[in-house]
Amino acid sequence: MKKTPTTFFFCISFLLIFSFCVHAAGPIQLPPPQTDSGKPLMQALKERKTVRTFSDEKLPLQTLSNLLWAAFGINRPDGRRTAPSAKNWQEIDIFVATSEGLFRWDAGKNLLDPIIPKDVRAMTGTQAYVQSAAVNLLYVADYSRVDGGGMDKDVLVGADTGFISQNVYLFCASEGLATVVRAGINRDALAREMQLKPEQKIILAQSVGYPGK
Ligand SMILES: Cc1cc2nc3c(=O)[nH]c(=O)nc-3n(C[C@H](O)[C@H](O)[C@H](O)COP(=O)(O)O)c2cc1C
Repeated sequence: MKKTPTTFFFCISFLLIFSFCVHAAGPIQLPPPQTDSGKPLMQALKERKTVRTFSDEKLPLQTLSNLLWAAFGINRPDGRRTAPSAKNWQEIDIFVATSEGLFRWDAGKNLLDPIIPKDVRAMTGTQAYVQSAAVNLLYVADYSRVDGGGMDKDVLVGADTGFISQNVYLFCASEGLATVVRAGINRDALAREMQLKPEQKIILAQSVGYPGK
């Protein structure tokens, strides 16, 4: 084959598109979380707030890793987490919707497992800003890990979700990120899109990103 600039251009384009597709289709390994930075706790509490305007800037993978670890990462050798859960059920899974697709965060391996290879951010809420937030976290309870023992399971699951959400609020306050926790979700449509099992229930969503103007 004659090597013309056009052939060269097509070869490079093919390689770029191919590598993008491979990357988009496979799991994304996140870098280890950095646990030695951030503002002091009292300062983060002072700055915790809801912000609903987002810039379209993406979060670096390192920031995403730090965010997810703060939310519900493993912080002890026995596998316990940064947020408590009733009876240590650890029933909340965090799904991550970005412009690249929907992923399920595997806390043990610290990787993002691809679920849907398209941008579903707009579907994660009923308010317009959700499509511009870099990341929309979905807190999904897996009731197969929940044994109520006479207690109201939904109350406990709601409480467990709240702790994770507050961790995210404090991380965002510490990092100067915007965030809003949301009950406003079209749950049935989103659960169908996510192909959730009957025992999985979307509890809350939380948008995170750089603050907009
Ligand atoms: C359980 C829960 C559900 C919420 N749902 C929504 C929501 O769907 N949309 C929204 O814009 N804000 C939502 N919020 C954010 C609250 O409106 C916000 O926390 C409240 O106005 C107090 O503001 P602050 O967080 O800055 O203190 C929710 C907050 C909580 C705790």
